[in-house]
Amino acid sequence: MAPDSGPFPDGQLLKLLPVDPRDRDTQRCRLGPAAFRSLGARLGSPLRISLPAGGCCLCTAWPRRDRVDGFVQLDPQCASPGARVATGRIGMDCLQPVPCPPLRRLEVWPVLRPQAGAPSSAAVLEVVHELLRNRPVSRGHVVTTPPGVPGPVAALHVMGGTPDPEPGGWVTPHTRITLSDKPPPQVEPPGEVTLGGLSETADSLRELLRLPLRYPLALAALGLAVPRGVLLAGPPGVGKTQLVRAVARETGAELLAVSAPALQGSRPGETEENVRRIFQRAQELASRGPSLLFLDEVDALCPRRGGPHRAPESRVVAQVLTLLDGIHRDREFVVVGATNRPDELDPALRRPGRFDREVVIGTPTLKQREAILQVITSKMPISSHIDLGLLAEMTVGYVGADLTALCREAAMCALLKNEKYGRWEEVM
Ligand SMILES: Nc1ncnc2c1ncn2[C@@H]1O[C@H](COP(=O)(O)OP(=O)(O)O)[C@@H](O)[C@H]1O
Ligand SMILES: [Mg+2]
Repeated sequence: MAPDSGPFPDGQLLKLLPVDPRDRDTQRCRLGPAAFRSLGARLGSPLRISLPAGGCCLCTAWPRRDRVDGFVQLDPQCASPGARVATGRIGMDCLQPVPCPPLRRLEVWPVLRPQAGAPSSAAVLEVVHELLRNRPVSRGHVVTTPPGVPGPVAALHVMGGTPDPEPGGWVTPHTRITLSDKPPPQVEPPGEVTLGGLSETADSLRELLRLPLRYPLALAALGLAVPRGVLLAGPPGVGKTQLVRAVARETGAELLAVSAPALQGSRPGETEENVRRIFQRAQELASRGPSLLFLDEVDALCPRRGGPHRAPESRVVAQVLTLLDGIHRDREFVVVGATNRPDELDPALRRPGRFDREVVIGTPTLKQREAILQVITSKMPISSHIDLGLLAEMTVGYVGADLTALCREAAMCALLKNEKYGRWEEVM
């Protein structure tokens, strides 16, 4: 039927409803029969949909199960970076059928899960093939891996292909998929750090990481010492680990995060071997683009040398120092170490060219405690009688982890009480 024969003149609005759980991660868009007619769409036709909250996504058209018109439900698995689906209304003119020729070749940039380490290209490609099989994709869009699906890949950026997948192209069993060696301009949309009271610390960490990750060659050409290592120091539970992860995500660097105690081996020499392997993996990542090696609790690996029984530890420290010194100057690569006990680190670790920058997070101040409580309780239904300022005054000496535990405890108490009295509204 001709596209203009439906009952939807331009400007007609459809109500955007949340996706049907059965359609999650299918890239489907459910429409009524009149919308199908108006678009000239067939079952599975690719549609580019501009979203009211910003961005667009690529879906395939599927009929609504109840065959009712005036509604649209969609799964934005393949969408422009930062696209958001909010409920609301969208015009029929925001739905546009697009040609999707079969792709002979497709190039993608995988975003790896932080805990994935450095998997082989073959392992990544296997997951990528599985994820994209028989789907339309669009250049510049990001395909997210469904939460329950295991594997090293969190998402994929569609970089290009033959024919060019713009506005769309179809991945078939014959499509040859390759991994791009250049990252997309911005690997992830900058997200706000969801930690309370740490914005200044986050700013200084961001600033320290930005230059070496973005402009290693320029810095080297200027003859400037490129900061290679940043040490994040502060008492336990102030949010060091969370902060590094959040800032790494924001800077768009690939993150290889390891907890230093986990590298400790039992055999002589095993720890050194583990450390060498991690640095090697990190350097491999760095050859593909900006990357960040995060050594959490680095004091476990590099305690102060000296003393009669410290020979094995000294060898580990020496190994870490050698590896830090051996980092290619022109690579977009930074090492961040976090520690609760900066004074127990071997001093050689803090010399220039190693962990020569320090960011200190102290026990939160009154204002910071209030900000932390605000962040923690923002997703909790709390009573209007609760004064977070007062609670912050009462919790001198508490760090973020203590405040999180406090709120969790309050929630548990409320649950027990509500169970008894049959009310479920408030937790504090
Ligand atoms: N500033 C903060 N805002 C919100 N939550 C925080 C903050 N600091 C710590 N937390 C909470 O405490 C927990 C422990 O933080 P973590 O980053 O592991 O601390 P550290 O590495 O400094 O020991 C986190 O999971 C987080 O929920
Ligand atoms: Mg930690």
